[in-house]
Amino acid sequence: MHARRPTGVGYGPSVLEPAVTAPAAPPPPPAARLAGVQSSPVREILALTARPGVVSFAGGLPAPELFDRAGLAEAFAAALASPATLQYSTTEGDPALRAAIAARLGGRGLSTAPDDVLVCTGSQQALTLVAAALLEPGDAVLVEEPSYLAALQCFALAGARLVPVACDDEGLDPDAVAAAMARHRPRLLYTIPTFQNPTGRTLPLERRRALAATAARHGLWIVEDDPYGELRYSGAPLPPVAALPGAEDRTIAVSTFSKVLAPGLRIGWLRAPAGLRRALVVAKQAADLHTSTVDQAAAAAYLARIDLDAHVAGLCAAYGARRDALLDGLGAALPAGSTWNRPEGGMFVWARLPDGGDAERLLTAALAHDVAFVPGAPFFAGPPDRAALRLSFTAHPPAEIATGLRRLGDAVRGD
Ligand SMILES: Cc1ncc(COP(=O)(O)O)c(C=O)c1O
Repeated sequence: MHARRPTGVGYGPSVLEPAVTAPAAPPPPPAARLAGVQSSPVREILALTARPGVVSFAGGLPAPELFDRAGLAEAFAAALASPATLQYSTTEGDPALRAAIAARLGGRGLSTAPDDVLVCTGSQQALTLVAAALLEPGDAVLVEEPSYLAALQCFALAGARLVPVACDDEGLDPDAVAAAMARHRPRLLYTIPTFQNPTGRTLPLERRRALAATAARHGLWIVEDDPYGELRYSGAPLPPVAALPGAEDRTIAVSTFSKVLAPGLRIGWLRAPAGLRRALVVAKQAADLHTSTVDQAAAAAYLARIDLDAHVAGLCAAYGARRDALLDGLGAALPAGSTWNRPEGGMFVWARLPDGGDAERLLTAALAHDVAFVPGAPFFAGPPDRAALRLSFTAHPPAEIATGLRRLGDAVRGD
């Protein structure tokens, strides 16, 4: 049954509310902890780049034409066949979905029971719950320098003190981690060890082992955020940090269907050691009771019917070609003396203009030529590298990437 809303029915002034006579006092200001948290300049840049015709290397967006809309439509239809999927449900998540996520994690080298998994409203919520469950105001949190901006915002909002740790082309520098441990006595370390956002860097096995051992020695929580690990186009997969000796009982592994299925689904998860689960569930109850029942049921129905691994293989073929198109043309587009990496997967290439270069100034020129990227500076918790920039290669097919790079070259030369 559904009824249309009547039109032309107004709600007149209430006779129950007394007229305001005295001058109104202003309401109290927002909480002070928000003052130190900057709004995301990346989101503002994305708004600028949303114009039609712009070739955007800016957002970390999956390609919409590669979404499996037919498969998802079928999965949502199956989910809606039961009235239970429109009802409130448990905080921990849909049992079928938890089991399917646990099986996927097991297949990737992280042995997981369904009870280890808490389904979250995007992996962004997993980060928020970890911050709520583990952080006291003033606690030090070690973060890669540079790192994912919305994670920095989330930890800052919890009142944490962000301590940037130096990284090189292979990610976290183990000596810098050890020095930061001794100096700051952090409560947790946040890392994106595989195809990192924003740099595309991957932490090699020896460094993963060293990180796990250091965490065990110093009594440290690790948050291992892995939204991109399944998007591998070359090279061999590495074990998750959470599976390595020393890290097993102190790592919260976080991931999502956003990059391999659809971000609009808002289905992510965390896998936490047993001792921490209760606190995380209470934090989630306070946040949203549970993640959308319908969306969870649809994700479970999708995984039961459709081979997600085959879909991911298709994404990897398409994104791998896009990465190659970007890498093939970047040298001709960027100023002489620029450098960049060659990630084996994910969505991002990290580039650096020659010393003294200013990526924000280049973005202004690039936008005038209908091409966009994100300057690297906002991703730094400490003093930024103004010459750095992030280029995402997933949103356009190779021919459009080539067009975008020609435009970028024109912007660099001032044509
Ligand atoms: C490193 C990292 N973590 C978490 C997220 C949040 O993803 P979602 O909330 O869509 O799962 C993103 C999104 O871009 C990301 O890059």
